[in-house]
Amino acid sequence: MAKNIVLTGLMGSGKTTLGKYLTEVTGMEFIDTDDLIIQKAGKPISKIFAEDGEPCFRDLEAEVIEESAQKQDCIISTGGGAVLRIQNIENLKASGIVFYLQASAEALYERTKHDTSRPLLNTDDPAGVLRKLLASRKPFYENAHFTVNTENKTMEEVSKQVLRLYQSQAGHFA
Ligand code: S3P
Repeated sequence: MAKNIVLTGLMGSGKTTLGKYLTEVTGMEFIDTDDLIIQKAGKPISKIFAEDGEPCFRDLEAEVIEESAQKQDCIISTGGGAVLRIQNIENLKASGIVFYLQASAEALYERTKHDTSRPLLNTDDPAGVLRKLLASRKPFYENAHFTVNTENKTMEEVSKQVLRLYQSQAGHFA
């Protein structure tokens, strides 16, 4: 049994895409905490935000993170706000090696601008929202075991870097 690989970062940082790719490369199980929240609530994230409010979404997020952190041998892709609760960070760090997939607000905007599934970005100024979220969440993201810059890198390059760091450190966290 091996520790999990946990992917954190802002919306558009590539957690889900990289997570699925890492799953293919390693054979580890893929978990997307946003998907688990959608299953639990029985509705999409935009509806959870609209009908129940963000605090309800954050409670569900904390629950699925706690459950996911019980598992092993998984690639866990988290939602961008997962780092907002200390308990989530503690659960994730105890369960595996946590990576912050870093990119500039401009790059994140380019990657998310055609996607309407993220309620926090359904505003007149999504680029401004991303800039503010990045500034306010940066210290929480940097709490990860490792920060990996994803800008101007292929997914293969990022995945190799993540796996190299994971393999070099896994023993220390066992
Ligand atoms: C959020 C990020 C989203 C999702 C929700 C809130 C955030 O996940 O959890 O819309 O607060 O940054 P992704 O980062 O996977 O888009």
